[in-house]
Amino acid sequence: MRPTISRLLQATRCLQHENPLGLPKTGTIPRFQRGLPTKRPIQNVKKVIAVSSAKGGVGKSTIAANLSLSLARLGLRTGILDTDIYGPSIPTLFSLTSHQPSLTSSSQLIPLTAYGVQTMSLGYLTPSSSSALIWRGPMLLKAIQQLLHSVAWSPSLDILVLDLPPGTGDIQLSITQQIVLDGAVVVTTPHILAVQDAVKGMDMFDRVEVPILGLVQNMSLFRCPHCHGETAVFGGEEGVRQVCKERGVELLGDVPLHPNIGEDASRGRPTVVAEPESDRARVFMDVARAVARKVGLEV
Ligand SMILES: Nc1ncnc2c1ncn2[C@@H]1O[C@H](COP(=O)(O)OP(=O)(O)O)[C@@H](O)[C@H]1O
Ligand SMILES: [Mg+2]
Repeated sequence: MRPTISRLLQATRCLQHENPLGLPKTGTIPRFQRGLPTKRPIQNVKKVIAVSSAKGGVGKSTIAANLSLSLARLGLRTGILDTDIYGPSIPTLFSLTSHQPSLTSSSQLIPLTAYGVQTMSLGYLTPSSSSALIWRGPMLLKAIQQLLHSVAWSPSLDILVLDLPPGTGDIQLSITQQIVLDGAVVVTTPHILAVQDAVKGMDMFDRVEVPILGLVQNMSLFRCPHCHGETAVFGGEEGVRQVCKERGVELLGDVPLHPNIGEDASRGRPTVVAEPESDRARVFMDVARAVARKVGLEV
């Protein structure tokens, strides 16, 4: 069934607590829409990993997108779910801003596929001028529940990457407590403020007993294309290495600060698609191999 846009946008107009995404109801209301959330697996998905950072703007979505594309390139059936309700980036990163998902006959959202990766984002359901930001409390948590459990991943996925919103508050806890997560990748820049927040993020995953697969350091070295000199824009990497050592966590990758990474992302062709043979793409591929191995997927 192809829903009309107006029906999909019901979410923002008629704020029904039981159905924030405004998915048309057919038959019975799924169990997850009643009572408290319970931790349960996402249907049709073997492994679920979260890409997280307590701080915003450190490159979480950029890393999550490139990681999912790398996993797909390794031959895994891969999906990415954008759970950043307030600042969804996946539609832009996958060049899908003008697309809307269809619904199955049982009112499940059908993911949009780009570059071999199945994607779902609240950004597909709400226009940029929408009032999604007014969602709070129970309404917000219901919307996340629906996003987590109302997507028809098909064909079934080997691995689903969750792009988490920044922070360690209600939303992140709600997500980590209501699905079975196989691990988390924590993203940070070398800057002390980001590293401090990354530690908070790791504490959160420890509390909810989600294994930390490792840290990715982003925007570390900048190599000047003119003088070829190198600058550690956000400071040296001692802080990140120290945290890894103290917490017994692996440094999965070190992504340089490079203008192409930002530009390719804004054009909807992330690095792994735009420059698959570059050193930068190789870092993402290495991270993907490590992640796949750690969650027990053969590549
Ligand atoms: N390694 C990088 N080099 C250059 N720009 C980057 C890099 N990583 C991320 N960016 C840019 O930094 C900004 C924030 O990245 P984003 O992935 O949206 O962060 P977050 O999801 O953590 O808020 C974006 O403009 C993105 O294109
Ligand atoms: Mg983001």
